[in-house]
Amino acid sequence: MNIIIGGALGRMGRELAKAAAEAGVEIVCGVDVAYSDQACDFPMVTDYARIDRVADALVDFSHPSGLPHLLAYGVRTGTPLVLCTTGYDDADLDAIRKAAERVPILRSANMSLGISVLQELSALAARALGEGYDVEIVEKHHRQKLDSPSGTALMLYETVRAARGGEPEAVFGRHGRSAKRTQAEIGIHAVRGGTVTGEHEVGFYGRSEEIILTHRAESRALLAEGALRAARFLAGKPCGLYAMGDVVREMLRGEPAANER
Ligand SMILES: NC(=O)c1ccc[n+]([C@@H]2O[C@H](COP(=O)([O-])OP(=O)(O)OC[C@H]3O[C@@H](n4cnc5c(N)ncnc54)[C@H](O)[C@@H]3O)[C@@H](O)[C@H]2O)c1
Repeated sequence: MNIIIGGALGRMGRELAKAAAEAGVEIVCGVDVAYSDQACDFPMVTDYARIDRVADALVDFSHPSGLPHLLAYGVRTGTPLVLCTTGYDDADLDAIRKAAERVPILRSANMSLGISVLQELSALAARALGEGYDVEIVEKHHRQKLDSPSGTALMLYETVRAARGGEPEAVFGRHGRSAKRTQAEIGIHAVRGGTVTGEHEVGFYGRSEEIILTHRAESRALLAEGALRAARFLAGKPCGLYAMGDVVREMLRGEPAANER
């Protein structure tokens, strides 16, 4: 397999390059706006529009600003896209859905297998416990992280919201509020500091018991390996929008992936 790396000079781009080298995956090209002739182990360009090669997949850990040219490259060349970048807005998500009609795309705010399992457990707990339990999602990341709350926290919120039904209301922090918590609320809170790789907690608070599900990432290597696994999964798949859960399902049960278009 060979890949193109978007955001190749960033923290995750470098981690991915390392994981690819260890796994014998060739890096055909890297893309990064910050590139200016520094030494690299593979060819580099500064914009997706300038890529003049093809690969089995393009794996992107960059910034939402690059999305239009990134999608255009994928659609033009038929290259499967693994979108790991977070912080996309609703218009971006619409553009991704539209592009997925013409090229296979896998998007996940978290490439780790453990987070997919946390998602499944959170959905189970939300369904079983119902609205009588207050749900609070807390995430922690290093001081360099740009977006908050994390894309993973929002993904976990969506999972709980869908599993619980009703009309839940996302409440981001509680600064300046002078009102009791309502049953419909799902609290989402971000902590930033130091070098924390990533921690996500989904808490279910009942009248006389609490269930706290926690995932702690100790190394970014795990995420890079997950991204490579996603690239392997996506190469050769039909057009459509896939999620990390599809990779996990195919991996664990050998079942064909559900196309989540
Ligand atoms: N899905 C996951 O599991 C996962 C894990 C970690 C990080 N992320 C996300 O991946 C992204 C990158 O994270 P990071 O920690 O490596 O950040 P980073 O800031 O270290 O790296 C981002 C890189 O992208 C480059 N870049 C910015 N805009 C670009 C553009 N328009 N075109 C090409 N390159 C561009 C930057 O120059 C930089 O080198 C963030 O959105 C982060 O939240 C996702």
